[in-house]
Amino acid sequence: SLASQIGDYQFDNLLLNAAGVRCASTDELDKILDSDAGGCVTKSATPEPRKGNESPRMKATSMGCINSMGLPNHGLDYYLKFAETNQGKSGKQVVLSVAGLSIKQNIEMLKKIQESSFAGLTELNLSCPNIAGKSQVGYDFEAVRDVLTSAFSFFKKPLGLKLPPYFDFNQFDGIAEVLNDFPVTYINSINSIGNGLVVDPDTESVVIKPKGGFGGLGGDYVKPTALANVRALRLRLKPEISIIGTGGIKSGKDVFEHVLCGASLVQIGTAFGFDGTPIFERISKELKEIMAEKGYHTLADFRGKLKTI
Ligand code: DHB
Repeated sequence: SLASQIGDYQFDNLLLNAAGVRCASTDELDKILDSDAGGCVTKSATPEPRKGNESPRMKATSMGCINSMGLPNHGLDYYLKFAETNQGKSGKQVVLSVAGLSIKQNIEMLKKIQESSFAGLTELNLSCPNIAGKSQVGYDFEAVRDVLTSAFSFFKKPLGLKLPPYFDFNQFDGIAEVLNDFPVTYINSINSIGNGLVVDPDTESVVIKPKGGFGGLGGDYVKPTALANVRALRLRLKPEISIIGTGGIKSGKDVFEHVLCGASLVQIGTAFGFDGTPIFERISKELKEIMAEKGYHTLADFRGKLKTI
C-alpha cells in the first residue's frame, strides 16, 4: 500500500503534485484529482489574481528547469472555492497553497481561510524566489517566528509550511528551533533552489526574461539538496510535525529515497510539468515494485530508516 497520513488526513497515495505547474486552473486541478495522485495542491494564491512575470519565464533543460513565473494565479477566492467544493471528495485531499507578498497579505488570507468552510490542509508558502525586490521569508528566521506567532493566534486549522532549501547546519538548527515552538502540522521541503542562472553559450544569453535571467531551479539539480533538507529536518523537528518531500522526483526510486529520509508524502513539480498526470500511475507502479523486491508492505516499514555508515 502507498497510503500515508499527515495530521488527521489520510492519503490513499503518497504522491501529490507540487504547487507550481499544471495546477493553476480548476480544469488542471480536476485532472490531478482524477489521476492516481493522493490529492492535489493548488497553485500558490495571492489575495488578488496576478498575471505574473514577463515571458519567457520557464525553460526546460536536460537536467530540469529554471523558472521565474512570478506567481501567476487566479487569486485566493478562486482556489478557496475549489478547495471548499472538492476537499475530501472520493477520498482525495485538496491542499490549498497560499503565498502572500507580505506578512500582512499572508495573515489576511489565513483569516479568510479560517472563516471559510474549507476543512483541509493549508500550505503557507514562505519561499517564492521570483518576486523582484522581495526576499524569501523562509531565510529570515525571526520573520518566520513573527508570521507564525501572528497566524497561530487565530488560525485553528491544520497548517503546513513550504520552505526554501537550507544549506548550512546552522540554518537547519535555526529553522527547526523556530518551528518546534508552534503547532505546525507539516513542513514541505524544498521549494526550488532560488536564483540559479542557466546560460546558453550559443546565444551567449540567459534563457528566461525576468530578473536578468535568475530563477528557481527544479529537477535533477535539486534532488540531493532536497534529500538533505528532508533528512536534516526530520532529525531536528518534533515528531508531531510531518514532512512532505519535494525535489527531483521523477521515478519510484526517487520517492523511495525521500521516504527513507523521512518524508510522509512527496510532491512532484518539474517532472509533473514534463509528463502530466500519467506520471502518478507510473511512479506508483515503480515504487510498488521496489517495495515488493525489498519485502516492504507499507511506507512505515522504511520511512526515516536511512542508514549511516
Ligand atoms: C513561484 C515560484 C515559486 O518557487 C514559488 O514558491 C511560488 C511562486 C512563481 O514564480 O510563480
